[in-house]
Parts: sequence; structure tokens; C-alpha cells
Amino acid sequence: MIIKLSDGRELPVEMHKARMVQKICLTPAEERLKALKEAGYNTFQLKTKDIYLDMLTDSGVNAMSDNQFAAFMNADDAYAGSMTFYEFADAVKDILGYQHVMNVHQGRAAEHLLCKVFGKPGGAIITNYHFTTTKAHIEETSKSACLELFADEALNTKSTHPFKGNMDIQRLNDAVKKYTRDKIGYIRMEATTNLLGGQPFSMENLKQVKEVCVKNGILFIVDGSLICENAYFIWKREKGYEKKTIAEIVKEMCSLADIFYLSGRKNTCVRGGFIASNRKELMDQIDPWLPFYEGFYTYGGMSMREIGAMTVGLREMVDPSVAGCAIEQIKYFVEKLDEMGIPVVTPPGGLACHVDARKFLPHIPKEHYIAGALTAALYIASGVRAMERGTISTDRDRQGNEVYADLELTRIALPRRVYTISHVEYVIERLNWLIKKRELIGGLKFITEPPVLRFFVGKLDVLGDWGRKLCDAFKKDFGKNW
Ligand code: F0G
Repeated sequence: MIIKLSDGRELPVEMHKARMVQKICLTPAEERLKALKEAGYNTFQLKTKDIYLDMLTDSGVNAMSDNQFAAFMNADDAYAGSMTFYEFADAVKDILGYQHVMNVHQGRAAEHLLCKVFGKPGGAIITNYHFTTTKAHIEETSKSACLELFADEALNTKSTHPFKGNMDIQRLNDAVKKYTRDKIGYIRMEATTNLLGGQPFSMENLKQVKEVCVKNGILFIVDGSLICENAYFIWKREKGYEKKTIAEIVKEMCSLADIFYLSGRKNTCVRGGFIASNRKELMDQIDPWLPFYEGFYTYGGMSMREIGAMTVGLREMVDPSVAGCAIEQIKYFVEKLDEMGIPVVTPPGGLACHVDARKFLPHIPKEHYIAGALTAALYIASGVRAMERGTISTDRDRQGNEVYADLELTRIALPRRVYTISHVEYVIERLNWLIKKRELIGGLKFITEPPVLRFFVGKLDVLGDWGRKLCDAFKKDFGKNW
């Protein structure tokens, strides 16, 4: 919730209290440098004992409520026919408006099944923007091209456009004409577009995309992993929606999709996912593959405890203080950095504060993994684990050529109900120190590079000795004061 201060400023305040906490440690800079070297300058490879604030992701690391934990204890552990599943299916009907649902073990499992069943090999799947696992499944599972039809403004990191996650309708019509419905597996809209800096689409745009789908007889799929955040932005930014509730907006969004899926690790629980629809004939096509890849129909690869917590999470997520809790912290974070002249993606999006690494480190050439370098440098300077969302996160093409990412972002995620404004202030402070030392930061090179989703386990090294130099500069300025 936003509180107006007497001097006119706004402060996001938490609408929950901590009743259980976890100790975290801030190790000195020298140890951070050592840990990062051992991790191959890849923050995915760090151990949490070496991390102060874990802002890698909002996936699987959000705080759960007391009622979600209670649901863990109340779950009905049965291999088949668990009542916990039927209670979950009721929540899906109530909150999203879908009559049919199947659980999967996480979001990418839904992507696997959808690409397997509806992909048209040699054709295309169209999206507003890809997510890493989405693109991998489009290309590997459905052997299709991944067409990203965003508007040019989406790549402008300093913007005031409220809906940079919109699909460009002219480009969509052109692509449909070119590929024809027979070669298009489906059209996918991703809520609060992750790799564009958590940027939402508008309801108006969602309706326009739906119209193209209906007119051309193409399947319409919504990735709702961050649906509440997108709904919150519609509530805050789209004319005509200011008087609606988040619950009403979520339902309206869902009513437009033929198939809806999500990673349950963000909005609803700490694990899992599901696919839902009102079109039984579509679910019937996926059905045979569910026990094959995931698990029996009433658990789909999840534990019943997680499904129980997900039921509660679904009902809680449409509360504005839950849907908006990370968004308001991110807004505070982004606006403060922006005021200080630190290049961040604007307007503030969902999921994370995204630093524009190209602008932060203009001296590093694109071949040297700019966002990877900034993400590594931030860890040395602060113990904060962020995530590279740039060229390292973009795999090479089939010929082995480097594919340079549209945006080079260091994503500093805000898990929901986990960190406080003083944590955010700490990261702001260290970024402010880092930008003054940016000349010290150099590039990275791969030492070990896996062929698919290389960002997870790839190992890199610094070009030159800049990790040591940055660490020494830090110690000079802060001494033993971490
Ligand atoms: N779709 C979106 C929009 C996502 O953000 C993610 C995951 C997935 C699908 C895949 O779901 O992880 O449950 O298999 N995003 C995480 C992140 C990993 O850090 O942003 P998953």
C-alpha cells in the first residue's frame, strides 16, 4: 500500500508482518570475490551462504502466508482422487473462470506440453516477447520459429509508455498473412513480459490480439505467470479500469484466452504450475501426455501440499496489497535510481528493478557480455545476487553464432513479501557507488558453455583482472565495513 508522507513523498508500506524469519549474512568483499570466481562469474552458481540479498528471481522464493502453510498441513495426500486437487480446481473456477485444469511440475512443463501438442513443426509460434524456457521449447519441442512481435518502443529503456508489453497488431497481421493459420501453432501473450523488463500489456491490446486469433482461427494462449502484476498495472494505468477490482481484471483477461498456463512459482505458491481452459476439446488433446511426462491427473508432478498452498495463493493473489506488493517496492527502487541518473528500465515494471547495462557500462563491447559483467560487479560490490538478462541468457543460433540480446539487463528481482525498503536502499547505495567506479569494470568470456540455456551452468572468467581491481577499490573506500 502507498502512504502519502507529510512532505508529499510516497512510501510503499508492507501490509503483512514477519512472523518467521531467516538469518542472512553479508560476507566481506574479499570473500565475495573468491566465491564469484569459484562460481565462474555466474550468479546462478553462487551458494546462498555467500549471498546477502538473493534478488536472482521471484521464482520459488516468495514468502508464503500463514494460511498457505496451514494448507500444507491440511493437504490430502493421495496418489489419485485427492480432495486437495478438487478444492484447487474450484479455486481456478472462482478466480480465473476456467472449468478445466491440470497441474504440471512447473511453468516450463506446461510449455513443453503445449509446444508438443499444438506446435506445427516448420511453422511458427507468435508471442509479444519470449521467455528463455518458452523459446527453448518453441524451437526444440515444436521445431518452430519464435516470432516476437513487440512494438519498437518496447526496446526503449527510458520511456513513459505504460504498456511496453503490447503486441504490435500491424506486425501480427503481417505475420499471420505470411505464415497462414496452418503454420502457426498458436499466439502467446506473456503477462508482465519478463525479458522486456517486466512490462505489461493493456487489456485493449489483449482484446485486439484475441480478435486476430478469432478472425483467423488461431489458438490464443496466455502465459499468466505474472497475471496479477499485469492486472495491477491495468488497474493503475489503463483508462476505464480504475474502478474495477484486481479480481475482475484478472477474470476479464482470462476470459480472452483459449488456454491459460502459468508457472506457479511466482504468484501462487513456491512450486508447480498448471494449464487451464474452458475448451474441453483442447484439454483432451493434452490429457494423454500428462501422466506420461508429469504425473497422474490429480497431481501432475506436484505434491498435494503444494497444490493446497497454491489454492490459497490463487485466492490471495487478487488482493491488491498482494498483487501490488512487489510492484510498489520496484517503483520506489526504479524511481530513486532514475532520479540519481542510474540507467534503469522505465516505466517501472513488475518482478524486478532492471538496470540498463549498456548505458551503465558504455565502454564494454557487446561481445564481452555487458549485463553479465554488471551483474558480477554488483555482487562484488554488495553481496546482492541479481540475474543477467542479456546475451548470456540468449543461446547461440543453430550455426553456433552469437545472438546478441535486444536488451542487456541486470535484473534485480524483488521476491514478494521478503525484503524491506531498507534492503532496497542498500542496493541503491551500492549501485550508486558502482556507477562511480564503472571504468574499473571490464568484460567476460566463456570458459565452459553448454549448448542450451547456457546461462544456468555456463562458467565465465573476467577479461583482464577487473574483479580484483573492483574488490580493492571497494576495500579502499569501505575498509572492513563490508
Ligand atoms: N513463463 C514466464 C513468464 C516465466 O517468467 C517463467 C519463469 C516461466 C514461464 C517458466 O516457469 O520456471 O516455473 O518453469 N521465470 C523464472 C524467472 C524462472 O526467474 O523469471 P518455470
